[in-house]
Amino acid sequence: MTGTVMTRAIQPRELNQKDVLAGGILMTWMDEIAGITSQRFAGPHVTTVGINDVVFREPINNGDVITIRGEVEKSGRTSVTVRVTVTIDGKDAPSVEGLFTYVAVDDEGRPRQIKQD
Ligand SMILES: CC(C)(COP(=O)(O)OP(=O)(O)OC[C@H]1O[C@@H](n2cnc3c(N)ncnc32)[C@H](O)[C@@H]1OP(=O)(O)O)[C@@H](O)C(=O)NCCC(=O)NCCS
Repeated sequence: MTGTVMTRAIQPRELNQKDVLAGGILMTWMDEIAGITSQRFAGPHVTTVGINDVVFREPINNGDVITIRGEVEKSGRTSVTVRVTVTIDGKDAPSVEGLFTYVAVDDEGRPRQIKQD
């Protein structure tokens, strides 16, 4: 399995001063999903090398139920890029998405080759 899914109901403590979901909190959840997805694909011990093309298209409100999905978008010799989408229940298109890239590393933290099936 290489995909990962998490569903959450937004709570008051997760809102910012504008009363919408704080972007930094959402990024933490997205990084967690992407990290698990990358390890399912590349094996344990990966490290974040880049977070790109993150777009917040619309606010997420208190009480919204969101689904965060991570899917492998592409992989290279040592890296894997995961597309993370965040969709509010009742909507078709993702409200937020981004690309999270991880490098598989050895015990010394050096890039290691990802085994190909
Ligand atoms: C990640 C790290 C091990 C890579 O080491 P490196 O010697 O620079 O590795 P390379 O240049 O050989 O690149 C390794 C892979 O990363 C990819 N890569 C490098 N920079 C990238 C970037 N900005 N975005 C996407 N991919 C990137 C390369 O294309 C390569 O992929 P491939 O092997 O699949 O073709 C090293 O940069 C590092 O330790 N960074 C700190 C990581 C860290 O602390 N993360 C936590 C942040 S809180």
